[in-house]
Amino acid sequence: MRLVRHDPVVATTDGMKRGGYYDEHSEYQEKVAESGSGLVRACVDAVPLPGGDETFVVADYGASTGKNSIAAVGNAIDQVRTRRAGQPAVALHNDLATNDWNEFFTNLRAAPDSYRQLAGPAVIPMVSAVSFFEPAAPAGGVHVGLSFSAAHWLRDQPTVEVADGFYFCEATGAARTALAAQADTDWTAFLEARASDLASGGRLLVQMVGSEPAAEAGDEPRVTARLLLRAMAEVGAAMATDGDLDPGAVDRYVLAVYARTADEARAPLERSGSVLAGSFTVVECRTDPVANPYLDQWRADGDAQAYGKSYAAFVRGFTESSLRTNLFGPGSRGKSVDELTDEFFTRLTARFAADPERDRFEDWTLTVVLERRPR
Ligand SMILES: C[S@@+](CC[C@H](N)C(=O)[O-])C[C@H]1O[C@@H](n2cnc3c(N)ncnc32)[C@H](O)[C@@H]1O
Repeated sequence: MRLVRHDPVVATTDGMKRGGYYDEHSEYQEKVAESGSGLVRACVDAVPLPGGDETFVVADYGASTGKNSIAAVGNAIDQVRTRRAGQPAVALHNDLATNDWNEFFTNLRAAPDSYRQLAGPAVIPMVSAVSFFEPAAPAGGVHVGLSFSAAHWLRDQPTVEVADGFYFCEATGAARTALAAQADTDWTAFLEARASDLASGGRLLVQMVGSEPAAEAGDEPRVTARLLLRAMAEVGAAMATDGDLDPGAVDRYVLAVYARTADEARAPLERSGSVLAGSFTVVECRTDPVANPYLDQWRADGDAQAYGKSYAAFVRGFTESSLRTNLFGPGSRGKSVDELTDEFFTRLTARFAADPERDRFEDWTLTVVLERRPR
């Protein structure tokens, strides 16, 4: 099998916002992971248990600073212990080398309900600090692989220009085709690496931002975060008009995230001649809407200021690294990157509070469950 190798340090994000910020402002990602909780347990029930005293390994790809990852992996290990009470287990958390691992281990120590407290032999936490586009575990060593809100990140910063937008879905013609091809290559690489990691009969559950085809002819496809990215592009353009940012840098900026359709997720698994041929059986591949916790709160209490703050903090948690490196750094007209970052999110907060419905985050989460065929 051909394995993809590349620099594990260079990526399209340095990780989520550090020092606990991401964990405090990732209610949406928590909702996504919760929506997959039953599937995690079903995956554990479906895999063959290792023989004798061998260790059961649950890996989570794109674990960030851990709050959601520790809960998801704990859920899987809790379930395996319903099948075999004393099952030895390893929790393998993967993310980039630039991830805030100090915060991860602080979380692991602090989490009152972590898998460290489960009855039975102590669960051994391990980390794998490489890009998930390459093997991240000993070959065949993972029984259940998980990944939440992470596999939509592209491996490289796109080089095509998306006029009037910050997001792949605003691209047209050759640029749109190039972005779809880049996303297909990356998803193929991600799965090829997981085919290396997983044991025969092992299962992989991936949840990521997705897209659904248009409901009716003439409508736009339903793309997770489309309205948000339009708002961000308009805020960037306004900062260029005010002289804070180079307009060329605003035109060139694209968030390196791609929201695949279910068909796009299936494509490299089903296409003839694919490097993935014979590696996986598709168990599930579908998109589902996930409710917006910030908008629901605003609808309940009418507090638009609080809504603006919580929504903008959620966005800052996952976009700040990309914006600093690819927009505020190259596009500054004199202000520091810190000043530009604060200015951008102050404007975004005010905009969200002024009209909570207009730029709402809409989510069609793509869920993929695969079974590793015999190696
Ligand atoms: C939005 S966070 C999701 C964290 C967690 N899974 C959750 O549900 O809260 C996305 C994570 O994917 C990681 N990530 C992005 N590209 C990656 C790559 N190439 N290899 C490993 N992790 C990556 C980021 O560093 C980040 O921590």
